[in-house]
Amino acid sequence: MENRLAELKEMNKQAEQGGGSKRIAAQHTKGKLTARERIDLLLDKGTFHEVGKFVRHRETAFGLDQEHYLGDGVVTGFGKVEGRLVYVFSQDFTVFGGSLSEAHAEKICKIMDMAMKNGAPVIGLNDSGGARIQEGVKSLGGYADIFYKNTLASGVVPQISAIMGPCAGGAVYSPAITDFIMMVEHTSYMFVTGPNVVKTVTHEVVTAEELGGASTHGTKSGVTHFSAPNEAAALQNIRKLLSYIPQNCEEDAPVYPYEPKDETRKALNEIIPENPNQPYDMREVIEATVDEDSFFEVHKDYAENIVVGFARIGGRSIGVVGNQPAVLAGVLDIKASKKAARFVRFCDAFNVPLLVLEDVPGFLPGTDQEWNGIITEGAKLLYAFCEATVPRVTVITRKAYGGAYDVMNSKHIGADLNFAWPSAEIAVMGAKGAAEIIFRKQIAEAEDPEAKLQEKVEDYEKTFANPYRAAYRGFIDEVITPDQTRERLITAFEMLENKVDKLPKKKHGNLPL
Ligand code: COA
Repeated sequence: MENRLAELKEMNKQAEQGGGSKRIAAQHTKGKLTARERIDLLLDKGTFHEVGKFVRHRETAFGLDQEHYLGDGVVTGFGKVEGRLVYVFSQDFTVFGGSLSEAHAEKICKIMDMAMKNGAPVIGLNDSGGARIQEGVKSLGGYADIFYKNTLASGVVPQISAIMGPCAGGAVYSPAITDFIMMVEHTSYMFVTGPNVVKTVTHEVVTAEELGGASTHGTKSGVTHFSAPNEAAALQNIRKLLSYIPQNCEEDAPVYPYEPKDETRKALNEIIPENPNQPYDMREVIEATVDEDSFFEVHKDYAENIVVGFARIGGRSIGVVGNQPAVLAGVLDIKASKKAARFVRFCDAFNVPLLVLEDVPGFLPGTDQEWNGIITEGAKLLYAFCEATVPRVTVITRKAYGGAYDVMNSKHIGADLNFAWPSAEIAVMGAKGAAEIIFRKQIAEAEDPEAKLQEKVEDYEKTFANPYRAAYRGFIDEVITPDQTRERLITAFEMLENKVDKLPKKKHGNLPL
């Protein structure tokens, strides 16, 4: 027995050394942690249970029969975050560059299966040179097995991907299917084809960082939802994100203790500028409305004309979608529509109620938008709201113009409670545009066209630049003062806690893609 215990101890030690001390040192020199160090930072102390520690590849070509590492380049298992079960895989770059073999893929699939059966999130820490080149199609098959499981798990358990090194070629498509992607500035990158291939095919010269670094994907493509300055911060972000979401689609997000106190927010009465064309920061409205320091923004630097993120209100988790008048007047464009649609669908899939703060002058006009399909892309957001069965509450703070009024969680498409501030303007378009169209003839024929236009603008404003026409019809449930907003929302989400709503039976809808 003694010998056997010694053997086991030695094998455990070997597995924990990954590709050896030299490669671990090289990893550290690049400013990167090892697969196991990352797991230690991600999970509650001492909670990690490894699965498949002694798995080895089965390849014999290209000398691989002589080169084996226990674990085969990925550490897999389960553990806890704030006491809640999660499954994790962490690719080990010190073993064949974290490349994915058939056995490596099987380990990942195994914990994904366990996560599905037991209803808990899967967190993937990606750091890999891609398909194990020596294994050829077996490795490609391994990727496809993972993509397939990612897709089956989508909407069943939350899936979070952190990119902590290279992630190129087919490897990008597993994170892409998951719910959230985190990247680390300067040490991680994602692209379908790397800079060398880009240069050969298109003659473009671009660095890996420019092509697919965290800043590129955080601002230009929107591929990553979060960017962090270092790995520890990225892992901390994952822990934080998990605090807002449930374990699986059958459960609710955790509720945090909340003590009712004075919920009036006087400062909100001052936030809307006198001039309706002047911007203000919707983040200030969000911060003043939700529980203190609870707002956790998603896609912060991408499509900034819309703000999305998680927060808590009265201790309950919610998803917030707010038009941002401080950027492009809060207009809806292609990127903003896609960003918000994706977020709304996540919240709906995982029972996170939605709060919409609306100040939207409409959709962005122009050939760029039309030729790139704003019709289809904008329809994504409309579809996402229409389809959402979670509790849905809207507060119109100022503009709610045109089709964008309908899209932004209007009563007509299934919102449960719709509030408006007295500053709300619910109309087909802004007063000047409207007057110019409907009174064109009268203005042209007037002695003083400028004065006539002004008179008609004032007319239109008096009639429509308020929330009351909508309230008369019941499209707005209550006109509230800004300082009442927090209190009303706490009560609203409490009232909607047990909402039951079902979509008609279907195989699946046909989201405009
Ligand atoms: N298959 C097998 N082994 C791989 C690998 C792969 N796809 N990618 C990297 N490795 C191995 C390297 O041979 C090296 O092994 P060693 O430690 O025994 O020397 C180790 O991983 C580290 O790779 P290295 O190239 O030294 O690291 P780097 O940080 O300089 O570069 C990459 C990292 C990912 C940019 C580079 O390894 C690379 O381009 N890999 C191939 C990517 C690819 O085309 N994959 C297939 C398409 S999906």
